[in-house]
Amino acid sequence: MIEHPHIAVFGETDVGWCAATPPNETSDDDGRPIVRVEGFTAADPGAPKRRVYDDPEVRALRERLRRRNGLPGLEIVEPHEIDRARRIFLRDGFVVVRDLLDRDALDAFREASARVLRQILAIPGFGGRKYVTETSRLPHRYSYGTSSASRQLLHEKVWASMIDLPTTTPLLKSFFGGDDYWVIGAGGDLCLPGAIEYQALHSDTRESYDLPRARLEQARRAGVEPRTGEDGELDNRTRQLIFERTPPRVTINFLMSDLTWENGPIRQIPGTQVRSDRPPTQADEPAWMRLSTLVGAPAGAGVFRDPRAWHGATPNLSREIRAMPNVEYGAPWLEEAVFRPSMPHDVWSGLGAHAQKIAGRVTTGPGEWPAGAGAMHPLASERARAKAAGNA
Ligand SMILES: [Fe+2]
Repeated sequence: MIEHPHIAVFGETDVGWCAATPPNETSDDDGRPIVRVEGFTAADPGAPKRRVYDDPEVRALRERLRRRNGLPGLEIVEPHEIDRARRIFLRDGFVVVRDLLDRDALDAFREASARVLRQILAIPGFGGRKYVTETSRLPHRYSYGTSSASRQLLHEKVWASMIDLPTTTPLLKSFFGGDDYWVIGAGGDLCLPGAIEYQALHSDTRESYDLPRARLEQARRAGVEPRTGEDGELDNRTRQLIFERTPPRVTINFLMSDLTWENGPIRQIPGTQVRSDRPPTQADEPAWMRLSTLVGAPAGAGVFRDPRAWHGATPNLSREIRAMPNVEYGAPWLEEAVFRPSMPHDVWSGLGAHAQKIAGRVTTGPGEWPAGAGAMHPLASERARAKAAGNA
């Protein structure tokens, strides 16, 4: 194990920038370095060839980002601007809201994010590499969720305490059209300085095109008038409007640092949440999409994301870790199979009434510990082992 006692998820750090980790290299389940050309971990053909802060190609990319990175006219709303936030969220598939976390909550989340990251980075890398690259992720990028053997961090009190905040709950109620939405999980992601590759554009979930009765009721509450054709079926325009106005899930990513042009701001492609086509590949992605990032969103803010929308991580060429712990929520009508217990009953009993209600589908029974919770490892094989041991 390697100690990293001074890691913080904001401000300058000497973590990252491992020159011994080749560009675009990921790990298989057991940690063997591999390069993939397709899918979520697809190699970025435009990445600099060396993971070195002052390398000429890194400097050229940094200069390009300094001049052009960031979605022009990005709207950042206040937590009390609920109608405006909802309008932007439904239109674009995401909305940035400032000041979701007060000073104490931001401090607590920063401390917990750093502590869990220290666990992930404590495992020595292979062949002189500073870190183990997470299975099926690009170098220097980690997910707080998938690095946990329970797939979630709801056993962490700090994550659990963020599911129901005075700033976020009124917005969630507005986006879901009521208060009977559910917590699915909590985790988030981060990139270390020296994550020089773009992550391929992707959706976390895709539209199912299912219209259960409860979704139709939610659509009605959201102002959709159900128009039918001569055959008595909903017409196409109404169906499309329902898919747009009733997001199956909402994810809040909380920002531990300001998102700058240099530190790996996420990119979101507005208006893509109900597209049935796939996003462009790394090789085909146009420059305007690469630069469509949330530069200017400040620490303590959050990005409410419809995870159907096309998005992806971008290069962190700075000396600062970019961490975004998150909470994921599901609509009242989302199928039950999505929910798995990952919040220990003891953690659940310490929450307020609304938090207890919305966490009702992810909580264990009294005295039960969720399988794998507490074991963090970048490799899938080690996580499976920890989970199996926990079940034994
Ligand atoms: Fe994603």
